[in-house]
Amino acid sequence: VWGIERGYQGLIAGQLVPLDLRAVGSIIHMGGTVLKTARCPEFKTREGLEMACETLKTHGIDGLIVIGGGGSFRGASELGELTSVPIIGVPATIDNDVAGTDETIGFDTAVNTALQAIDKIRDTATSHDRIFVVEVMGRDRGFLALEVGLTAGAGVILIPEHAFKLHDVYEKLHQYAESGKKTTIIVAAEGIGSVPEVVQHIDDHTPFEVRYTKLGHVQRGGSPTARSRLLAQLFGTSAVRLLQDGHTNTMVGLEGKRVVHTTLDDVCNTVKPIDQTMRTLVEELAV
Ligand code: F6P
Repeated sequence: VWGIERGYQGLIAGQLVPLDLRAVGSIIHMGGTVLKTARCPEFKTREGLEMACETLKTHGIDGLIVIGGGGSFRGASELGELTSVPIIGVPATIDNDVAGTDETIGFDTAVNTALQAIDKIRDTATSHDRIFVVEVMGRDRGFLALEVGLTAGAGVILIPEHAFKLHDVYEKLHQYAESGKKTTIIVAAEGIGSVPEVVQHIDDHTPFEVRYTKLGHVQRGGSPTARSRLLAQLFGTSAVRLLQDGHTNTMVGLEGKRVVHTTLDDVCNTVKPIDQTMRTLVEELAV
């Protein structure tokens, strides 16, 4: 078994390291990746894909497991058209924006990291009677913001999948203030556009004291939660089994409590729907 360093960049450059049984010892509690990772624009070119095929050939690779998000699987799907080497995808991104799986590896860890940070921010919010706008990652989707917002007890959640008017946000804050609620946490997904502008608007149009915190890359690190580890174990073993059983161009995923698999084509051509009932729950729960 070989590990490919820095994802597609290493596949193009032939940077492979042997992964024997001991190579993965004592890493179960670590965040990030011992194989490292990189964004690789070259892999989007025909030349890059051909160089990757060449690496597979020269190293006698007879099965490839790609761990990543939507971009990684689009790459895997294109590579699959040029090589006969079977390819299996394992979904791992804090964005949880991959179709074909309820959850991706790392999502639960990021949710819990953001949650702990907001719990701490809430101490200042409550002591000073302030509104806090907390920006979370998620790229152009709101899965992370939604789950973090709900579990952090946010009064407002702003996600790209649900158009909102700033006026409605002011109204909501006034309603809360009238009912005696002096602190509101607003969780905003980075995908809604410029969150600082939203903060400025709230500051300009309401009497409330407002502060802005962008959680940033803190959400991408740290020791994985039990749930993220379990998912990695389930997905990893299933991916190996799928290769052994002769599958290709397929991604493993979770549906309810079952591990399922979906073709990479379907994964790449399907937009994962957001659970709007979860969003409306916020309106019921925030009082
Ligand atoms: O896709 C994962 C993610 O963390 C997104 O949520 C975020 O927008 C992006 O990656 C950040 O990428 P970078 O570390 O390259 O700035």
